[in-house]
Amino acid sequence: MSPLLLTTLLFILLVSSVTSTRWQQHQQPLGELAAQRVDLTLGVMSRCPDAVFTETALDSVIERVNDKVRLRFEYIGNFTDSSQHDVGVTEVGGVVCKHGDQECHGNIHQLCVQHALRPSRAGKDYDLSPSAAQRKVWDFVQCQNYDGLAQIGTDALAKQCLGLVKGPKWEGEDGIGACANGDEGRALLRDSVQVSKKRGIIKSATIQLEGKTICVRDGGEWKECPGGHETRDFVRQIEEAWRRKNGQ
Ligand SMILES: *[C@@H]1O[C@H](CO)[C@@H](O)[C@H](O)[C@H]1NC(C)=O
Repeated sequence: MSPLLLTTLLFILLVSSVTSTRWQQHQQPLGELAAQRVDLTLGVMSRCPDAVFTETALDSVIERVNDKVRLRFEYIGNFTDSSQHDVGVTEVGGVVCKHGDQECHGNIHQLCVQHALRPSRAGKDYDLSPSAAQRKVWDFVQCQNYDGLAQIGTDALAKQCLGLVKGPKWEGEDGIGACANGDEGRALLRDSVQVSKKRGIIKSATIQLEGKTICVRDGGEWKECPGGHETRDFVRQIEEAWRRKNGQ
């Protein structure tokens, strides 16, 4: 065999193997169609031990299904004008949070980061894929939790965590600080509390998949988890829902 022929053959083999794996990767789920993510919502309060426990437990789940879910944090609180709160409690932006104002601020920090990294902005403003942006929100929350309940809700921790996850910047007109300490953060909190109420999310933490509660962590126990509460149980339910949604 001539060296030229050999080189040509090798080249063809190489190109075809590369294109066929590419093709398979794209083909595997859905051919030409884009796959649709399933909605995974966590109803939480940022300084609630059950929320922190659940978010820690779900870390290994998100690790595996981040690209199959649209992950949203929603927050539980009461509106001051609903008279559903004790006399003497303080409020942030018209919302009362069970673990105090500091919790409202923690919720707002997380909401501002989630909002900044929303899919429609992730690519344009941060040069991130929706999956990478979502992952950053997740890592930000994990970072806050890692430091313990006492610090969640402080600006110092939020700043530190943004630095750690290389997240959106704190400073500046469109920074997280401006959101967290201005009207935008308070509006995000009110909207989120409203969403939780509409979705029937009362307990922190509530895990909803495609709008349906699949598990609750409350008072240090798992409750209402018919499909199980281990990593593999959550992964299985999410993958099943994803296949159903995508006609697999
Ligand atoms: C909201 O109000 C209800 C009824 O008073 C109370 O049981 C619940 O703990 C309150 N939730 C928060 C987050 O303050």
